Amino acid sequence: MSANRSAFTVARCADDSRRADILMLVHAAFAGLSPPSGALRETVEDVAVRFAAGPVLIAQAGDELIGSVYGAVKEDGLYLTRMAVRPDWQKRGVGRALLAAAEAEARSLALRRLTLRVRVNLPANRAYFKRAGFAVTGQGQDPGRPPYQAMERPVLSPA
Ligand SMILES: CC(C)(COP(=O)(O)OP(=O)(O)OC[C@H]1O[C@@H](n2cnc3c(N)ncnc32)[C@H](O)[C@@H]1OP(=O)(O)O)[C@@H](O)C(=O)NCCC(=O)NCCS
Repeated sequence: MSANRSAFTVARCADDSRRADILMLVHAAFAGLSPPSGALRETVEDVAVRFAAGPVLIAQAGDELIGSVYGAVKEDGLYLTRMAVRPDWQKRGVGRALLAAAEAEARSLALRRLTLRVRVNLPANRAYFKRAGFAVTGQGQDPGRPPYQAMERPVLSPA
């Protein structure tokens, strides 16, 4: 029987034995970016470092990994990196659900903001995060890397 193509769950990943699956997912999601993302050079050891740094959120359809994002506490915010949705699951709300779960994590850690960086040359991503309530707060560039814009959105109190 085929899986329900719209049903998925999002949760904090408590099991870092899934780091190889997460790496494959991130590589698949970031494969099309130009210039190539540094995500493509990352290894399972890098994923282990992310697990040590903060909550790793994953989306699953049944047992299949279809989305992930890394969180790290920075000052009063939860800094999100490598948000990735498996290409065949994009535009079905998985990204929004990962952001909602990140907000819940941030709230439980008494943090005030979700923060992230988007490459300047990826306006579609910037527009996506703007529609999701993020605002541009600054810009920067690491040595040898493309320029980025910093974005953030406040962590709202529960309704
Ligand atoms: C950016 C990324 C994480 C977004 O994830 P996603 O799951 O595709 O995003 P969502 O489904 O939440 O939202 C995308 C659009 O799909 C639409 N959508 C959401 N649910 C939908 C559904 N059930 N049916 C049809 N469309 C839907 C929404 O309208 C949304 O558009 P909006 O931005 O105007 O609200 C994903 O495209 C990705 O992995 N990209 C490659 C890696 C990358 O660039 N990461 C970000 C680095 S900064």
